[in-house]
Amino acid sequence: MATTITITGAGGQIGYALLFRIAAGDLLGPDEKVRLRLLEIPQGLRAAEGAALELHDGAFDLLEHVEVTDDPATGFHGANLALLVGARPRGPGMERADLLAANAGIFGPQGRAIAEHAAADVRVTVVGNPANTNALIAAASAEGLSAERFTALTRLDENRARAQVAAALDAPVSSIRRVPIWGNHSATQFPDVSHATVDGRPVVDALAERVGDVRTWLEETFIPRVAKRGAEIIEVRGSSSVASAANAAIEHTRDWVRGTDDWTSAGVVSHGEYGVPEGLMSSFPVRSVGGEWQIVEGLELDDWARARVDASVAELVEEREAVRALGVL
Ligand code: NAD
Ligand code: LMR
Repeated sequence: MATTITITGAGGQIGYALLFRIAAGDLLGPDEKVRLRLLEIPQGLRAAEGAALELHDGAFDLLEHVEVTDDPATGFHGANLALLVGARPRGPGMERADLLAANAGIFGPQGRAIAEHAAADVRVTVVGNPANTNALIAAASAEGLSAERFTALTRLDENRARAQVAAALDAPVSSIRRVPIWGNHSATQFPDVSHATVDGRPVVDALAERVGDVRTWLEETFIPRVAKRGAEIIEVRGSSSVASAANAAIEHTRDWVRGTDDWTSAGVVSHGEYGVPEGLMSSFPVRSVGGEWQIVEGLELDDWARARVDASVAELVEEREAVRALGVL
């Protein structure tokens, strides 16, 4: 049986970077057939239709079917996986509350449509920003579906963090493990190296030999570099990250389905772990076991790390309050 995968915003940039990799088997492997549903708004339909024509021309062995639609009921029908990429970008003069309101108008109805039309085992990866709160809105709107079926993408932040550590140590990125992201996919996020290893050795020890005072390097170089990387890409490229975001979305969703052999990061619903208020979609260190994300528990957070986690979580609480004030939750 083929896996049905819905991609919203499929006519956009990340959509274009996702579709062909999924059709080529990068998400589910070389043996799993896929059926793609490309969900757009009317203005984005032509671009999605164009991508569908190219998917056809790719003659991908694994691709069974492609459907393009602007109807959420059709778009999510039978979906086993849904990548929610389409979102309202912040426009000139738009306040944060306006952005949250505009996205609540997208992710609320999409959450409802997923609950009504997707497969019971649906797994939802929210990419569109503000990703954590959009995931919260979708989950809250999906009556009858567990909030565990909704996640927000912070894997890109983790990949950026691992790449920065690797560069600082002049080590291959493959040798760097356990650099989780805590909190929000925003400039307040906390990329955490305290448990990280390079070829099995503590990263903090290796950094001390390279950067001098590790705390200063973390505060002045590493954390701002990772947390503001999205803005840096926008400034240099002229638009937000695309291929690296699509890559992270594929890795996140693949690991969710197929499992992990170590920790990674994902925005998942809190049950109160590490004092994060219940119900928030916060990034945590996670493992994927038996098709479910599990928060890695029992990690020590010193006062410095605790303050950083708390600051990012406080931003998530503020976003939730702002959405509640709109009467959405
Ligand atoms: P884009 O503007 O190129 O494409 C977005 C597409 O979404 C457009 O084609 C638009 O028509 C469509 N769309 C808008 N509303 C929709 C709706 N209600 N239903 C279906 N489709 C809809 O943008 P992009 O570069 O592909 O980025 C998409 C989103 O991903 C943005 O919100 C961006 O900020 C976010 N992003 C997140 C991360 C992350 O790590 N979480 C990284 C990069 C970008
Ligand atoms: C990113 O991290 O690259 C994006 O979320 C940035 C953005 O604002 O689109």
